[in-house]
Amino acid sequence: MSSEQKPWGGRFSEATDAFVEAFTASVEFDRRLARHDIQGSIAHAQMLQRIGVLTEKEMHAIVRGLEDIAGDIDRGDFHWSLQLEDVHMNIEARLVDRIGETGKKLHTGRSRNDQVATDLRLYLREAVDLICRDLARLQRALVDLAEREADTIMPGFTHLQTAQPITFGHHLLAWYEMLARDRERLQDCRKRINVMPLGAAALAGSSFPLDRHCTAQLLGFDRPAANSLDAVSDRDFAIEFAACASLLMMHLTRIAEELVLWTSSQFAFVELPDKFCTGSSIMPQKKNPDVPELVRGKAGRVFGHLFGLLTLMKSQPLAYNKDNQEDKEPVFDTVDTLRACLRAFADMVPHIRANRDEMRLAASRGYATATDLADYLVRKGLAFRDAHEVVGKAVRLGVETRRDLAALSLGELQHFCELIDDDVFAVLTLDGSVSARDHFGGTAPIRVREAVAEARRHLPAD
Ligand code: ARG
Repeated sequence: MSSEQKPWGGRFSEATDAFVEAFTASVEFDRRLARHDIQGSIAHAQMLQRIGVLTEKEMHAIVRGLEDIAGDIDRGDFHWSLQLEDVHMNIEARLVDRIGETGKKLHTGRSRNDQVATDLRLYLREAVDLICRDLARLQRALVDLAEREADTIMPGFTHLQTAQPITFGHHLLAWYEMLARDRERLQDCRKRINVMPLGAAALAGSSFPLDRHCTAQLLGFDRPAANSLDAVSDRDFAIEFAACASLLMMHLTRIAEELVLWTSSQFAFVELPDKFCTGSSIMPQKKNPDVPELVRGKAGRVFGHLFGLLTLMKSQPLAYNKDNQEDKEPVFDTVDTLRACLRAFADMVPHIRANRDEMRLAASRGYATATDLADYLVRKGLAFRDAHEVVGKAVRLGVETRRDLAALSLGELQHFCELIDDDVFAVLTLDGSVSARDHFGGTAPIRVREAVAEARRHLPAD
């Protein structure tokens, strides 16, 4: 087999059409799997030796050859050939070039079908670990910021209308919780990634007595896949990864959206560091929150990849089909996009500056303590629905006279309900309102600090 000849050329009587060759080739993108392909091949060769298919000498020659090729690839000293279609055949041809006839024995008891499925799983397992590390870094940054802003008061929103005062630390820890579930989901998805297809060969298994448990162990897989047809054909693990990735991106867009809103001069709640923003070529005053905007926008491609993968897999008959070659680019792009977004946010979050005065002012403007007044009346003996009615009237007076509840006089308040006393003003303050919500999961600064400590107990060190 000379290096540019098709390893499967034996039964063919004419050369592949030039366009078809380019159309069917995947080497342009699957060369990214080279390291994992070599890792899988080394384990396969070692297993073949243990079961007596390769001699020790042959196995060592193959392993050394593959390691040398890995070095060549790292140095950029590897000619990728389109004629050789994909990463697998490129590396195998190079092995034969390097070590001669022995190289041709590597593919014993194996097919590109179980090979590629194994490569992709090895790749994704590593990618998931890296993403989880990136995620934890962002979570740590959020927890640090939450601690710094545990006492900072801001308006909490429902329907994007001021609802009740909350602490900024509490808000940041809500983001932390979303990401904690994303990390958990990815770790769970990893369990289903970490199952080994190798040994399924083309689809039916091999006539050699392959020790698949041995190969699985060598590669750090939890176990070999239990059914050879399923092992080579399904890409559900990649789809599941894309689904986890989509949920994570969805969460990042929610964070992004709030940052975009909050940096606008209408909110002016936070400031992003200059080095994470850009200006406008025409409007000198502009400082645009490009990083959060771009993260928000990049969700589109990740959601798209999820749908692309689902559609790719849909209706495929058993076992392997060439359709599956289309799984790689969306998976790679999902990994790259996710990692870039996580990095951008993790680098940016420690530099977010809260405009504490603006946040407090905004909270004091929106009748955010109306619920506290209603609760106060309940404690004085009024039914909640009646209390709601009373407070509604007080708010109306506030709106008409452009004053917050705390700015109404005792006399004015008593006009709506004689149960109101001068102890009411304590509950109308923002600090009183947030401190009162001090049960588990509440917004009180004391609970935020507790949640920070709890989060730190769960986060990996680095
Ligand atoms: N490049 C192929 C893929 O990505 C490798 C497996 C090819 N198998 C085959 N029988 N043509 O799926």
